[in-house]
Amino acid sequence: MSLSDFTLIGKDDVYDHVYLLYSDSKLNNDLGYYPSKADKFVIPIGDLDIEVEQSKSGVYSRHGTGTTGFYLWNVSPLFAEWMLYHKHPLSDMFNGCGVVVELGSGVVGVLASTLSTRCELFVATDQKHVLKLLAKNIENNRQPKANTKIVEFDWENIEFGVSNLESTLERRQVDFVLAFDTIYNSFLLDHFIAATKTICNSETIVVVGIQLRDEDVLSEFLEKMLDKSFQCYHVDQEWLSSDLKNGYSIYCFKLCS
Ligand SMILES: C[S@@+](CC[C@H](N)C(=O)[O-])C[C@H]1O[C@@H](n2cnc3c(N)ncnc32)[C@H](O)[C@@H]1O
Repeated sequence: MSLSDFTLIGKDDVYDHVYLLYSDSKLNNDLGYYPSKADKFVIPIGDLDIEVEQSKSGVYSRHGTGTTGFYLWNVSPLFAEWMLYHKHPLSDMFNGCGVVVELGSGVVGVLASTLSTRCELFVATDQKHVLKLLAKNIENNRQPKANTKIVEFDWENIEFGVSNLESTLERRQVDFVLAFDTIYNSFLLDHFIAATKTICNSETIVVVGIQLRDEDVLSEFLEKMLDKSFQCYHVDQEWLSSDLKNGYSIYCFKLCS
């Protein structure tokens, strides 16, 4: 199984692809953060009970951008469940891989706590203010033999992020980049794409999970990724779990060689 099991989207396909996706999908009207009023709760992902500590006070103590990381967002646990308990080309390629870097992990780090057992090294990254609680959550949910590291990587300060990452990776190449619910704001797209491209080589697979909200932001994102020489594959609905079919979309990208 390989990326070619998914649908290749070229520049001329973006408009039709996005139009059909929004016409065919059952969209969620909620903002997309995990529906819990509490700061501490447990979410079941298959056999795993993941302890979550998020920070509503963190959201209110910061103004402007940069607060979304204090919450857990819906698409991450759904993706973790799909990767751990379903057979499909992406789980086939991911299981047993080397280095995984997640961009915008958020305070909960649910992918680090679940998928790190399937790779040799999982590096969770985010902006500085998110990292303390991220470290606590990852520690509370540490699985036996999981090798997880936490690195500060702000897409608006790529040089600093890359230097932090290089010290952690010690020349190892990145096999997978994961980014879940990081595409929601037009302003961030160029920064996110530049950061992603900087850490990719020609073999790296970038997996981006999106909650379907603003279709213009999604179209802009896909067009910009294609402009920056990424090939774009859409994971068709037939592969997805029933939960992911409800208003989410998964893309895989690889740099054109
Ligand atoms: C909607 S949250 C998703 C968090 C997490 N992936 C999840 O699914 O729960 C978006 C994430 O992107 C991060 N983010 C936003 N702007 C960023 C930037 N300039 N550099 C790095 N991370 C950023 C936020 O801190 C936050 O963790």
